[in-house]
Amino acid sequence: MAQKVGIDAISFYTPGAFLDLAVLAKARGVEEAKYKVGLGQDKMGIISPSEDIVTMGLEAAYDIVQGQQSAIDLVLFATESGFDFSKAAGIYLHPLLGLNAQCRVLEVKQACYAATGALQLAVQYVSLNPQKKALVISSDIAWYGFKTPGEVTQGAGAIAMIIAANPKVAVVQPGQFYTESIPDFYRPLGSEVPVVDGKLSIRTYRDIFKKVMPNKPYEYICFHQPFATMANKANEVLPYPVAEEFLTESKILGSIVGNIYNGSLFLSLLSVFMHAKKTLRGKTIGMFSYGSGSIGEFFDVTVQNDHEKAIPFSRIRQVLDDRRALSFGEYERWMNEFSTKERQLNYAVDASYISPKQRFYLKSIEQGHRLYVKR
Ligand code: CAA
Repeated sequence: MAQKVGIDAISFYTPGAFLDLAVLAKARGVEEAKYKVGLGQDKMGIISPSEDIVTMGLEAAYDIVQGQQSAIDLVLFATESGFDFSKAAGIYLHPLLGLNAQCRVLEVKQACYAATGALQLAVQYVSLNPQKKALVISSDIAWYGFKTPGEVTQGAGAIAMIIAANPKVAVVQPGQFYTESIPDFYRPLGSEVPVVDGKLSIRTYRDIFKKVMPNKPYEYICFHQPFATMANKANEVLPYPVAEEFLTESKILGSIVGNIYNGSLFLSLLSVFMHAKKTLRGKTIGMFSYGSGSIGEFFDVTVQNDHEKAIPFSRIRQVLDDRRALSFGEYERWMNEFSTKERQLNYAVDASYISPKQRFYLKSIEQGHRLYVKR
């Protein structure tokens, strides 16, 4: 690929509330160390009834899209938490970001892999049309249901990336990918929770990684992180594992946000950008994406000199710092309300669920159509 194409800007959003996993461990009668040490997770982001994949995508994209609207003519919205089997979630987001009518908007699905597939397709698109930009959004609610083995590996959040020629953050290289149909995870029609065989999913993650993993040493590799210690499980199959110090930096954000499905790999990259002790300028970072069902892809990104100017770090820190801890009772009430909301054709969001810190919120569902408000 002659033209340098990749991530020109990247940002992140997670809802304003979390559950500390010590609280979940106590309620479920499980040793806290299983969650905090065995799975490496500290907190999980909890979605409010006034938020969904569209509002999270809007919050993540809003800052980096400003001033870029006229160049963006492709939006790829990657999610496995879709609420509509026909209309793309990105169509709801399109007017609220002030995007052009001359813009293709598509929803992309393949479990947690779709954002990587969308990124690679967007890179190819911009390589052919270097004056254009693409917006890739991943937005997901990882919700397995109460008292399930997956309950501790939940979370919610979105990543937004602008893909452009001569990118400021990182040049994206083509990857090695592998697809095989495996029954480890699926979400049945009409259900807001997936059916998951957790042990098979971990085995398949590692088996597929072995098919695409590099056989040369990398100083840095970010892994899809449904829970933090999955990165260690993947790292240990590499012929040249990455250093523990790097893995630790790559796990900090995921351990306090939880699984955000499609965005988890890119949250790991942001974690490195926010916590690396050494400069990353000119460094190549390996990226392993896994989506149950299953697809795996290994690719790498080369960090550009100006990357720090193209990432809204202060906004990301503010979103994390502004979060509040939910009590266990609030967690139960919020997630019961989430399940109720997802099944309604008509629903009005109670004002008590709308925080003044939200720049976008879901107001209501009317005959199945969602109404959003931009403050
Ligand atoms: N102190 C320290 N560690 C402890 C402990 C204690 N008191 N008690 C248990 N542990 C350790 C266990 O030894 C285990 O570590 P190892 O795997 O290294 O041995 C770890 O804690 C977890 O314990 P279990 O395996 O017993 O946990 P579990 O059976 O309850 O379930 C899970 C774990 C399978 C991840 C489950 O949470 C789940 O199904 N999650 C959803 C599926 C998932 O995340 N799969 C990951 C791969 S698929 C994917 O990546 C796509 C995606 O995003 C979903």
